[in-house]
Amino acid sequence: MFHLREPRASELTALSDLCMRSKAVWGYDDAFMQACRAELTLTQEDMSASRLQVGEADDVIVGVAQVSAAGDVAYLEKLFVEPDRLRSGAGRALFAWAVRTAKDMGADRLAIEADPGAAAFYRRMGARDDGVAPSASIPGRSLPRLVLDLTNAV
Ligand SMILES: CC(C)(COP(=O)(O)OP(=O)(O)OC[C@H]1O[C@@H](n2cnc3c(N)ncnc32)[C@H](O)[C@@H]1OP(=O)(O)O)[C@@H](O)C(=O)NCCC(=O)NCCS
Repeated sequence: MFHLREPRASELTALSDLCMRSKAVWGYDDAFMQACRAELTLTQEDMSASRLQVGEADDVIVGVAQVSAAGDVAYLEKLFVEPDRLRSGAGRALFAWAVRTAKDMGADRLAIEADPGAAAFYRRMGARDDGVAPSASIPGRSLPRLVLDLTNAV
């Protein structure tokens, strides 16, 4: 049985490790992954400054999502699924939660700075391309930026 819930503070380290395992599915080398570690680490502050959700299947956490908002714009800060659970619907369920949460926070659009490997997933979820954004972890790297119009999203 799959369900969504808020994470506990005691789970933050395990969730950060999940983000690292998930990011690594795109075949990045160790140096790249270490450069991403800070950005992929979930902290106590994230629990108060943003909204977090985990997907759990049979009592095992299979994915995590994080949303923050500033005015009209919400940001999908993280969406990571366990490598052995890809294409099982966890990403769609967590993305749907992110959409609901962004609307609850009063945003009218959800902005995503995507890993290049995940951009097609976001397009499948209805987001449209919106240029590129500089990577926060890797100097000189650009990431696809996408946006979902929440005024039309169901
Ligand atoms: C992107 C990610 C979250 C998608 O999660 P997922 O659980 O595998 O996706 P789902 O099983 O819910 O797929 C939903 C739909 O998107 C499609 N899809 C999933 N990943 C896709 C991809 N990489 N490219 C194209 N389509 C994709 C599925 O086929 C499915 O299509 P359907 O509507 O025909 O059924 C997951 O691949 C992931 O965690 N990747 C590694 C980490 C990462 O890059 N995260 C994003 C950071 S910006």
